[in-house]
Amino acid sequence: MNILATLRERFARALATLGIEAADVPGLTALVLPSQDAKFGDYQANCAMPLGKRLGQPPREIAARIVAALDVADWCDPPEIAGPGFINVRLKDEWLATQVSATSRDLERLGVPLATKPRTIVVDFSSPNVAKPMHVGHIRSTVIGDALYRILKFLGHRAISDNHLGDWGTQFGMIIYGFKHFGDRDALARNAVEELSRLYKLVNSLVEYHQTRTEKIPALEKRIADADQQAARAAAEPIPTDAKEAKQAAKRLRQQEAQLGEMRGELVGLYVKVATVDDDPQRSKLAAAHSDIGQQVLAETALLHGGDSTNVGLWREFLPACLAEIEVMYRRLGVVFDHTLGESFYQDRLRGVVQDLSDKGLACESDGAICVFLDGYDVPMIVQKQDGAFLYATTDLATVQYRMSHWRPDAILYVVDHRQSLHFEQLFAVARRWGYQDIELKHIAFGTVLGDDGRPFKTRSGTSVGLAGLLDEAVERAYAIVSQNDDGRPEPLLSEEERRQVAERIGIGAIKYADLAHNRTSDYVFSYDKMLAMTGNTAAYMQYSCARVRSIFAKAGVELSAIRTSATGSASAILLNTVQERALALALLQFPEALDRVVADYRPNHLTAYLFELATRYSDFFENCPVLKAESDAVRTSRLLLCDLTARTIERGLNLLGIEVVDRM
Ligand code: ARG
Repeated sequence: MNILATLRERFARALATLGIEAADVPGLTALVLPSQDAKFGDYQANCAMPLGKRLGQPPREIAARIVAALDVADWCDPPEIAGPGFINVRLKDEWLATQVSATSRDLERLGVPLATKPRTIVVDFSSPNVAKPMHVGHIRSTVIGDALYRILKFLGHRAISDNHLGDWGTQFGMIIYGFKHFGDRDALARNAVEELSRLYKLVNSLVEYHQTRTEKIPALEKRIADADQQAARAAAEPIPTDAKEAKQAAKRLRQQEAQLGEMRGELVGLYVKVATVDDDPQRSKLAAAHSDIGQQVLAETALLHGGDSTNVGLWREFLPACLAEIEVMYRRLGVVFDHTLGESFYQDRLRGVVQDLSDKGLACESDGAICVFLDGYDVPMIVQKQDGAFLYATTDLATVQYRMSHWRPDAILYVVDHRQSLHFEQLFAVARRWGYQDIELKHIAFGTVLGDDGRPFKTRSGTSVGLAGLLDEAVERAYAIVSQNDDGRPEPLLSEEERRQVAERIGIGAIKYADLAHNRTSDYVFSYDKMLAMTGNTAAYMQYSCARVRSIFAKAGVELSAIRTSATGSASAILLNTVQERALALALLQFPEALDRVVADYRPNHLTAYLFELATRYSDFFENCPVLKAESDAVRTSRLLLCDLTARTIERGLNLLGIEVVDRM
């Protein structure tokens, strides 16, 4: 059962009997929340204050009327009114004991109810552009999307995961160009992934070199010159006589200087980048021989899209290798998709999409391109370029259409970097006008992974950090920790193979958990040390807590199944005699609430926060309540049941985040 949800229902009923209009009730019952502090009870309702203001009556009086109408006597002590009109609710101890005993018998669901109104929800996540190695930027979408998918499913929704691969974009133009000019057939036959990745890197670096020289540097030089002029003008202004204004002017000047400094630094970086190629005779010769490589790559891409048989043939040849490479990554991360319908899948639908938008009068021609103009946006959404090419947006529209007609979802979630916000805003607006009104379309945006310096996490040479290397390093570090722990034992417990397996789970778990534990919309700093710490809100701590609870059973030689069956006979096998036992039981019963919070705004960090809180309550319990040396058999059994349920809840919680537990570490 979900205590909070049930309590809110009861409050809604009480408010209704007082004649508070139904329309107001949802907002008011949202003010029923778990208490921050046990001295205010287990739950607290703060709805009397806004009501008092609205009705012009003293909130304490309203609170008293709500309490009189509230029907919770079966499971709560009489609610108390505190301060200006807070209503404090405390659950009855006997009721808690029966509930947690029942939950401990619910091996499958741990008391988590199935959604009363199951929804069909498509989760579009991971979706990397293949043909280039996966990098750190892909971790967030993959990990957050997978966690949401698992949680939605567990709650009884029909979740459908779809990996919208970028398998049709310019990166294929790059490897096709690369193969035609620098390709090595033998190398391709020997190790396609390696050869394609070499070609991608080579072509990409040449494209970047020319782009930097002919576009980026001139543009930045111009911005600097403009800013310079602006700063000079500002400096020439007479100093304001008013002290406050003078201070502000000085502050502005300093800010301008700082910005200028930053841009100059960036410019130097670009000069260096170009110079490293120019100073290398071989590379500069290569660059000179491919001076229009940027255009050529686009031309190869256009040929592919136009159905050119050579390019389509090469694409067909390359794609399996690209897919095999990302599959390795997914297997390692334990991520499985229901569907992998990449951009290429939609290619023959794009013409129809543009035609339909035009027929319906939604799209029109503008400067030779076909566009949908939207109120409130300076730029239209382009669905077909002047040269006839379709765009990312066109494919996404075709994708909405396909998903709607095949799966009839109630919602589509797009777990994609926040930098694509504008794209999704426009996509959703166009989709609605196109006729898809009764669906929740939601961009599950997330922030950037940063390095120690607070800038996007890059390798020392400035390229993005490869995902494979990232996972390897986390696992290596986990291996060192596991080995050190084990070597420190009087008798090491783990074989080499076990160490490796445990390290893999801990290393990957650490990366996933660190990502999920941050509010998805914030940026976060990537730190191996922090994510692998054995204390604090980390995967390692949660895995350790779980393993530690389990070890009690092994140590005492108690059969888990025996303890569990002993509990089936009695309605309340779990006894809550101490504050710590009671607090732990309450936390265990709040698992459904945490999951509800996650799906309310699609934020997995509510689950990590819950697990950390649970582990903390468990520690309190464990320090204060002897388990194996409990005063009686009944108490011992009760405490073992609490341990067992804690371990199972943590394990289930981690599993819903895509993280595996370990027996020993
Ligand atoms: N392939 C895109 C990228 O790497 C992400 C795709 C996200 N999903 C979507 N339906 N647009 O930026």
